[in-house]
Amino acid sequence: MLQVNDLSKVYKGGVFSKTTLKAVENTSFHIKKGDCFGIIGESGSGKTTIGKIVAGLLKPTTGELYINGRNMLKNNELKTSDFRRRVQMIFQEPDGVMDPRWKIERSMMEPLDIHFSLNQKEKMRKVNYWLETVGLSPEHLDRYPFELSGGQLQRLAFARALSMEPDLIIADEPTSSLDVSVQAQILTLMKEIQKKCELTILFITHDLYVARQMCSEMAVMQNGRFVETGSSEMVFDHPQEKYTKMLIDSQLPLDFSVRKKLKQGE
Ligand SMILES: Nc1ncnc2c1ncn2[C@@H]1O[C@H](COP(=O)(O)OP(=O)(O)OP(=O)(O)O)[C@@H](O)[C@H]1O
Ligand SMILES: [Mg+2]
Repeated sequence: MLQVNDLSKVYKGGVFSKTTLKAVENTSFHIKKGDCFGIIGESGSGKTTIGKIVAGLLKPTTGELYINGRNMLKNNELKTSDFRRRVQMIFQEPDGVMDPRWKIERSMMEPLDIHFSLNQKEKMRKVNYWLETVGLSPEHLDRYPFELSGGQLQRLAFARALSMEPDLIIADEPTSSLDVSVQAQILTLMKEIQKKCELTILFITHDLYVARQMCSEMAVMQNGRFVETGSSEMVFDHPQEKYTKMLIDSQLPLDFSVRKKLKQGE
């Protein structure tokens, strides 16, 4: 479904600066339809840069990007309304996802107006369906973003992305700004929907345990390069690279932190 070949991204300093930074170097991977592929790495390793390139938000310095066999870097494919619908990105911070001036209803409806031709009733039905799927109810539509919690906003972001019927969802640390117990709920929900709807997901996280729970395949990233790729079990249970072992050893299992958090709340 998604094929990325030899992707590199060099950031230039400022207009007058000669400094450059290689954020991503010669990275290749592919994701099969219905799979969840994880990119794991420490802060600054280049994960978001890859996500933004795949989402069409950033131009790569070199490399190729194919979606369903179509070359996305040719003929302005990334700018087409069709691409914008088919590839959806969910960001780390739920703030700013929904326009603060608008009630949720408007933020949920507007993309439907752009990408589908539905009447009011059909739109409403669609929005309500996805709201329910992510565990929210129609009453949330009448609220403003500031009246909702981070977890609720992230659910809405997910519902809105799903309502676009995308081929690919890029989830960039979708739960790391949330409380650990809410994290677990949202991840479980994402996993359920992924299975049910056969969603293809590029899942970006610094947490190997989360990736292990969510993804069938994963790549471990360090300084702009993939140092290890494979099935989640292989990478996690039998890491080959010293760096991967170090990452595993340095992290708390999600269950452990959730348990700890729950205990603190007693
Ligand atoms: N617009 C930009 N201009 C210049 N440098 C950038 C820009 N965006 C990112 N970088 C640099 O590129 C490198 C990779 O950044 P990126 O955001 O892809 O990392 P990341 O793995 O997503 O990190 P995090 O886990 O903190 O989100 C970093 O060194 C970062 O400082
Ligand atoms: Mg990032």
